[in-house]
Amino acid sequence: MNVDIFTLFPEWFEWFLEQRHVSNVLGAGSSIECVNYRDHTPLSGRQVDDTPFGGGAGMVLRVDVLDSALRGHYGVDPVDLRMERRVIALAPGGRLLDDQLVDELAAEPALTLLCGRYEGFDERILEHFASDVVSIGRYVLSGGELAAMVLCDAVSRKLPGALGDDRSAAEESFSAALEGRPEYPHYTRPADYRGWRVPEVLLSGHHERIAEWRRERSRERGTDQEQSAQR
Ligand code: ADE
Repeated sequence: MNVDIFTLFPEWFEWFLEQRHVSNVLGAGSSIECVNYRDHTPLSGRQVDDTPFGGGAGMVLRVDVLDSALRGHYGVDPVDLRMERRVIALAPGGRLLDDQLVDELAAEPALTLLCGRYEGFDERILEHFASDVVSIGRYVLSGGELAAMVLCDAVSRKLPGALGDDRSAAEESFSAALEGRPEYPHYTRPADYRGWRVPEVLLSGHHERIAEWRRERSRERGTDQEQSAQR
């Protein structure tokens, strides 16, 4: 997969790209490239944003700057780009990122991520350049960079070679193997610590009983999560 991240802070991603599962995926043929909006702005003084029409606090990323950045990088009109690859603007009001969307994105050959800053994007960017608007949660971050990292992290875990053992992704929280529910609890040595004992069934070596116990715990956690989401 090829991922391009448009941002005002490409240096933020240096640490992220060094992390093991991300570098594994990069080593296995995927690429992640950061593009600085400022390197493509047609405005003087590397300007990228402006005050909102109608007044109000904060600054808004300009549509002409995004047009030049995308056109400069891909050599096509950004209106047509979204027919070739998913162009995802990260914004708090977008579609919530969940395991289903992560699976969908992991199956794409290429993604373009647009990080917003300040008050966000001029709406025409979302209307005419983006194929998707994605949010990582119902709260406001100071920009899309952390959201882009969250999205890349979750997607890269699904790509071949990311994890030491591909079974880790197959049976993890929200996977089809767990019918979309959270993962069951894990334990390791010592089997007894300060009187806190590991459930006996996990020490039994009885694979069917262990599998049944895990399914049951995963169901319980799913119910707990649904209940706390309703509160
Ligand atoms: N930018 C600011 N807040 C965000 C959020 N919650 N998700 C995605 N992008 C954002």
